[in-house]
Amino acid sequence: MKKDFLKLSDLTKDEALDLIKQALELKQFKANKTAHRPLEGKTLGMIFNKNSTRTRISFEVGMFELGGHSLFLTPDQMQLGRGETIADSARVLSRYLDGILIRTFDFKEVEELAKHASIPVINGLTDLNHPIQVLSDLLTIHEKLGRLDGIKIAYVGDGNNVAYSWITAATMFNLRLSVGCPASCKPELPKEISIPDSIEITEDPATAVKDADVIYTDVWISMGEEETEEKVSLLKPYQVNQSLVDIAKKDVLVMHCLPAHREMEITSEVLEGKNSIVFDQAENRLHMQKALLKKLLS
Ligand code: CP
Ligand code: NVA
Repeated sequence: MKKDFLKLSDLTKDEALDLIKQALELKQFKANKTAHRPLEGKTLGMIFNKNSTRTRISFEVGMFELGGHSLFLTPDQMQLGRGETIADSARVLSRYLDGILIRTFDFKEVEELAKHASIPVINGLTDLNHPIQVLSDLLTIHEKLGRLDGIKIAYVGDGNNVAYSWITAATMFNLRLSVGCPASCKPELPKEISIPDSIEITEDPATAVKDADVIYTDVWISMGEEETEEKVSLLKPYQVNQSLVDIAKKDVLVMHCLPAHREMEITSEVLEGKNSIVFDQAENRLHMQKALLKKLLS
């Protein structure tokens, strides 16, 4: 039976830990220039309804390095953009391709695509979640700290799609998660899972980062959302700057899924500072993408 990756909880904890192991192995292959082409003859269709640098390029390069091929598809150039249904598109694409990646607005569209496709569907971000990002971030944290169990993540800023996926990750991996955000920017809590005591949502950014092993932030205004002065001024106290970093553990890791808006959610000083691992984090998208593609498409 085909396996989709629409949300983090589509994987068991053991499957996710195995992907971390696989991704580290693939990273080593690349470093050693060892060819590894398990997806020879396979094609991934990539539907992008929103912009992307990391997701598009890491999946495209990932398919190439695994011996496969990828197609960059935008709805405005497909009949999808002229009213062909997702269901019909899913059935047709399933006759040509071996997997579909989709980045779009409404999570329901991804579910609809997966329901009608007979090939694996991967969620490349929706308004509700960004599972492939957080899966890859778990690899980065494991690589840097040697474990996930009991690690404290402070997610500071807007309670958006990335925050939502962190909540799912925390429930799966026994992470301590403190989300620091204004009341009106709180993440929507998943209905399908019960929230343990190890997850707190606070309006005080200092409480969120106290004793944190990782401080994580993301843009204040997500794709498809209109920027308002009101939201930006509400979020100003949640900027990840040096004073906030100083409250956390001395060796705290600073992460950002990127793109960053310097001097908004994060200062340049912190992004370029000694605690920041954002570019190692961005690189790991490629290695984790490849591990996931290998699992779902081979
Ligand atoms: N972090 C992330 O998904 O980046 P892109 O929007 O550039 O793909
Ligand atoms: N929350 C951001 C993430 C970008 C990778 C957005 O949805 O625009």
